[in-house]
Amino acid sequence: MRLKHCHNFHDFRRLARRRLPGPIFDYIDGAADDEVTKARNTEAFDSVDLVPNVLRGVTDVDLSVTVMGQKLAMPFYCSPTALQRLFHHDGELAVAQAAAAYGTMFGVSSLGTVSLEAAREVSTAPQVYQFYFHKDRGLNAAMMERAKTAGVEVMMLTVDSITGGNRERDLRTGFSIPFRLTLAGMAQFAMKPMWGINYVTHEKFRLPQLDDHVDMGGGALSIGRYFTEMLDPGMTWDDVARMVADWGGQFCLKGIMSVEDARRAVEIGCTGIILSNHGGRQLDGSRSAFDQLAEIVDAVGDRIDVIMDGGVQRGSHVLKALSLGAKAVGAGRYYLFPLAAAGQAGVERALGQMQAELIRDMRLMGASKVSDLSRDNLRFRGT
Ligand code: LAC
Repeated sequence: MRLKHCHNFHDFRRLARRRLPGPIFDYIDGAADDEVTKARNTEAFDSVDLVPNVLRGVTDVDLSVTVMGQKLAMPFYCSPTALQRLFHHDGELAVAQAAAAYGTMFGVSSLGTVSLEAAREVSTAPQVYQFYFHKDRGLNAAMMERAKTAGVEVMMLTVDSITGGNRERDLRTGFSIPFRLTLAGMAQFAMKPMWGINYVTHEKFRLPQLDDHVDMGGGALSIGRYFTEMLDPGMTWDDVARMVADWGGQFCLKGIMSVEDARRAVEIGCTGIILSNHGGRQLDGSRSAFDQLAEIVDAVGDRIDVIMDGGVQRGSHVLKALSLGAKAVGAGRYYLFPLAAAGQAGVERALGQMQAELIRDMRLMGASKVSDLSRDNLRFRGT
């Protein structure tokens, strides 16, 4: 199987699985507890049907949207994710350049493996900084200052990860940074020697956003331990209100799910919220963003940009979310499997497929611009 044989999410996932050592594949693919929320994230899109209109003169389709002050050529962006150079040696640099090629936004994580500055250098795309709230307030301030200097356009504070999710696949393989593999995990690495050769022949793996502040080298700091030891579960709305004011620009919260929280985000001056359950990787059993979208759009959609992520595998999924009132839709695994499968070329192919699906589906829906989509185009099953 090769890149040219990848026509959808599942093909890329299969190719990634072939290339990656099992523990790394499972880190991307896996989710919390019984992975019920992860499954629901994609299934949720099937609970609603599209009702197309015809004969609307759809020769030209304009996919552009403006979200959190950023003009995007399509309403779909690459959500920031951790550890990308583990998946492909170019990591965030590949994603940043692919996003620029398709005129969309990408993010670099606090747990990113390329610096904010290096990503900025190779890409003209709007850049998001995925940020965690650390116990060390000085560290938070220093990281924000650095992001400002680096020219980051949007701050994205993740609020659903104040403690690590229970990722049982990772417990079984011993996935952590640095690796503390179980015997089973080691055996799985041994089966993918090409990945190992690539890993040791490219620039040393680092976490440049954290290196100055956190000792990642000594004791194995698992992602779970980073969340539990470094991040502040005591964080409150007042803390975030201060951050929003200090940043003084586009600031969104990722992981908002309740109407009450959406309203508070508006009150403290956020410019966006991202409905998200972190790809089902944190609280299993939590509601899918798509299921929750209408309620949130109705409450705050006229005052803040409502965005969602989770389970998106198709252009039609994005159109359903936009029809409900989302301003844009993000995804993680959708571009991470292509990254693992083929680096920048893989991500570009996946974004190209999304763009083509969006244009085709907009035409088939009788919509020539995103604002033509509305709830009139949707029917929920059983209602
Ligand atoms: C995860 C964090 C790092 O889901 O975002 O693994």
